Amino acid sequence: MTPPTHDVKSVASHFPLLGDFLNASPISRGHINDTYLATCAQGGARVRHVLQRVNHDIFKNVPGMMDNIERVTRHSSARLHAEGCGEVSRRVLTVIPTRGNQPFHRDDSGNFWRAFVFIENTRSHDAIESPRQARDAARAFGHFQKQLTDLPGERLHETIPGFHNTRHRFDALQKAVAEDRAGRAASVRAEIDFFQRREPLADVLLDLLARGEIPERVTHNDTKLNNVLFDETSGEAICVIDLDTVMPGLALYDFGDMVRTATSPALEDERDLSKVWMQMPMFEALVSGYLESTGGFLNEAEKAHLAFSGKLITFEIGARFLADYLQGDVYFKIHRPGQNLDRARTQMRLVESIEEQEEAMRKIVERYR
Ligand SMILES: Nc1ncnc2c1ncn2[C@@H]1O[C@H](COP(=O)(O)OP(=O)(O)O)[C@@H](O)[C@H]1O
Ligand SMILES: [Mg+2]
Repeated sequence: MTPPTHDVKSVASHFPLLGDFLNASPISRGHINDTYLATCAQGGARVRHVLQRVNHDIFKNVPGMMDNIERVTRHSSARLHAEGCGEVSRRVLTVIPTRGNQPFHRDDSGNFWRAFVFIENTRSHDAIESPRQARDAARAFGHFQKQLTDLPGERLHETIPGFHNTRHRFDALQKAVAEDRAGRAASVRAEIDFFQRREPLADVLLDLLARGEIPERVTHNDTKLNNVLFDETSGEAICVIDLDTVMPGLALYDFGDMVRTATSPALEDERDLSKVWMQMPMFEALVSGYLESTGGFLNEAEKAHLAFSGKLITFEIGARFLADYLQGDVYFKIHRPGQNLDRARTQMRLVESIEEQEEAMRKIVERYR
């Protein structure tokens, strides 16, 4: 697929990028937004920036989103300065406001554009290669949460309402089964049963939240490995990026999604389910890295549900894939027929694999708490 081309030079002119615009090229990684690397000549040095078109089909409230991102990055950056960090602009995203001091520029076609400082000498990884990477990424996401425990001001905007509301997600699956819009329900009875049998999972964390046993926090909500930048030279995880979904949430959602995306060696749409399983060394690495940065502020109920959270988020995303399959593939893009069903099945297999090992996973958490 060729990436869409935009007049990035004209977009760049709306931001106070010092010096002369030289060129812009798409960064092909990333599946949501259109991301460009723009280079300027600044007094003889080449300085690079990220220009990004926000996907406003997915993100309906871009002003709210940008307000969240500005508040969060400003606060993280102030904390890093206070800690004496010598390279703050490599450790946190820096938003570059427009010439009119707005957090984004709106072009003639209604697209929203924003600019960030480009963080040099880094790389991101699409697939996890080692427990060390898992530990570093989990530590980075945990550190990100930690920095935001004392974010001042009002509650952040809930830019995607009910993003991880597992009760709503489960009810949406029930509705998709009842409507059976694509006429597929009869052929996936076993898959539907799988989720219906596990319905009580959907309320566990929501009930704890309602009873005040776990708190709402500021969370990242897209804790995939490729949203962490690693230093090219040292290999250290230095910066959490892709802050589009930062909003009020549960710390356990972030941890659970790390378990979902980082512990199985298989792709999300793998058809050979024998390749899908929860690898304990990866889980242990996630727990150790995450608790290293969050152990000081998470409460006991949160820590006690770390293993459970992986199962829950995998269950939730699986239910969403199945619901989308039942509705005729309207939300998640597919590149071949049946892909959303395959995705649902990998999630189901991973849920089972977690169930088989849940006791041992809990013991690992005990060891690290
Ligand atoms: N400030 C930055 N510095 C360096 N690389 C970046 C920066 N922002 C984004 N990238 C690169 O661009 C990719 C896509 O950006 P991201 O914000 O994650 O978009 P998407 O929402 O499409 O995933 C990232 O995986 C990373 O490799
Ligand atoms: Mg990303």
